[in-house]
Amino acid sequence: MSNILCIGAGYVGGPTMAVIAKHCPQHIVRVVDINPDRIAAWNSDQLPIYEPGLEEVVNLTHGRNLFFLTDENIGEQIEWAEIIFVSVNTPTKAFGLGAGRAADLQYWEKTARQILQYATTPKIIIEKSTLPVRTAEAMSHILNTNSRGVQFDVISNPEFLAEGSAIKDLEDPDRVLIGGHNTPSGQRAVETIVELYANWVPREKIITTNLWSSELSKLVANAFLAQRISSINAISALCERTDADVEEVAYAIGTDSRIGPHFLRASVGFGGSCFRKDILNLVYICEQQGLSEVAEYWQQVLIMNEYQEARFVANMVHTMFNSLSGKRIALFGAAFKANTNDTRESPALAVCRELLEERADLALCDPYALGNARHDLGDLAEKIRFTLDPYQAAEGAHAIAILTEWSHFTELDYQRIYDSMVHPAFLFDGRNILDHQKLFKIGFNVYPIGKTPLQHLYQGKNG
Ligand code: NAD
Ligand code: UGA
Repeated sequence: MSNILCIGAGYVGGPTMAVIAKHCPQHIVRVVDINPDRIAAWNSDQLPIYEPGLEEVVNLTHGRNLFFLTDENIGEQIEWAEIIFVSVNTPTKAFGLGAGRAADLQYWEKTARQILQYATTPKIIIEKSTLPVRTAEAMSHILNTNSRGVQFDVISNPEFLAEGSAIKDLEDPDRVLIGGHNTPSGQRAVETIVELYANWVPREKIITTNLWSSELSKLVANAFLAQRISSINAISALCERTDADVEEVAYAIGTDSRIGPHFLRASVGFGGSCFRKDILNLVYICEQQGLSEVAEYWQQVLIMNEYQEARFVANMVHTMFNSLSGKRIALFGAAFKANTNDTRESPALAVCRELLEERADLALCDPYALGNARHDLGDLAEKIRFTLDPYQAAEGAHAIAILTEWSHFTELDYQRIYDSMVHPAFLFDGRNILDHQKLFKIGFNVYPIGKTPLQHLYQGKNG
């Protein structure tokens, strides 16, 4: 039996520890957080995270071998644990050197110093947070300054789960990556973590590498995924000019087994807490290493994403006779993707902010993310109507913009919605999830991403 501690009970720490607890009933897993509200939510019926399947796993393990605790007695928890996962947030640095690009490692460093302060017995420290390559070196320096002679082994075990499918990704991962030092104690630590995952993950899916490859692979994986989205979004702009259809193009290229079909869905842009921050971090590291061409190459992925968002709003303004002032617009979706309540870096909120600049009158509708949206929009929230009911949001509206690919929005009665709107009625499908021909027949002027618009307004452009 091992005592496992996770520091940070967020989108990664909570679900990951719940799945470890489920598959390793022989171990005790404790998760601590400095945010008492978050811990209270984990200990209530209203979990702080909406994630399909999470409630079931938590119900099974909570109080059995999974416990959520505040950091009140962090010293005791650290001393108790043999294995410590660190899953604190590593946002983009907002101040000082590297502001707006480098990773802010203050939470991670604070955690390392706490471990150093309280540990009197050997520990395996696992980097679960996404960190710049060679962070473990700094951690080892901090931890090994201890005068008590305590042995710390720092391991990199980045998380690849995606929100909305976190439980599935944790239960059946494409791979688990574990990086460690090539020393006898480093390799023993790696083997301990391999054994932990081997409780449910097939051995051939557990990859072991050196520490720096593991740290870097996490940033590179996110950069490659985001790059595919920016690539198809770039092509979506060209499709709109040439009457090509981006879905047909994505299918045609995705059937090439060398390219593959995933992450080729054109959209209003990618969001989420990590793609932007991790690419900024990668760009910053490249610059630090004097690799300016490499840095510029990856920066372009972000430039293209901003372009796509801006293009979406500009298209709305232009289409709706160059003025949105005072016009009601119903925004369907606030979450950065479906099946999560997370709104961090959500393109929906970026669109929201830009439409408010245009003085549009906004109604924002989302099944799970309105609380976080309200929080993230801050003072701007006062200017927006929030509603769970899409019919209410659309009533009296000039336009609808689909910003999150919730299945809820595909199942609506669009005839009823059309009848309740101001005409001509516009629909901008930023996720290409609706039946555009059907909407056009109802009477909507329809603007998908990367496809010819279906317009009643102008002759000769009706697909
Ligand atoms: P999060 O903000 O949801 O959770 C981090 C938690 O750590 C917060 O609840 C915060 O209060 C807590 N915390 C910060 N400092 C602490 C301290 N000293 N002691 C105890 N708790 C502390 O963040 P997240 O989305 O879970 O991401 C965590 C890390 O995992 C990041 O590095 C992120 O890049 C990475 N990651 C995230 C995802 C994802 O889907 N969200 C996926 C893979 C990797
Ligand atoms: C992403 C990665 O997929 C995870 O592997 C990684 O662990 C995680 O980041 C992280 O490090 O935080 P996540 O951001 O939760 O996961 O969700 P994704 O499914 O990757 O979607 C990210 C964004 O891209 C969303 O806004 C989504 O709507 C958008 N997207 C995705 C597209 O626009 N088109 C696509 O084809 C796919």
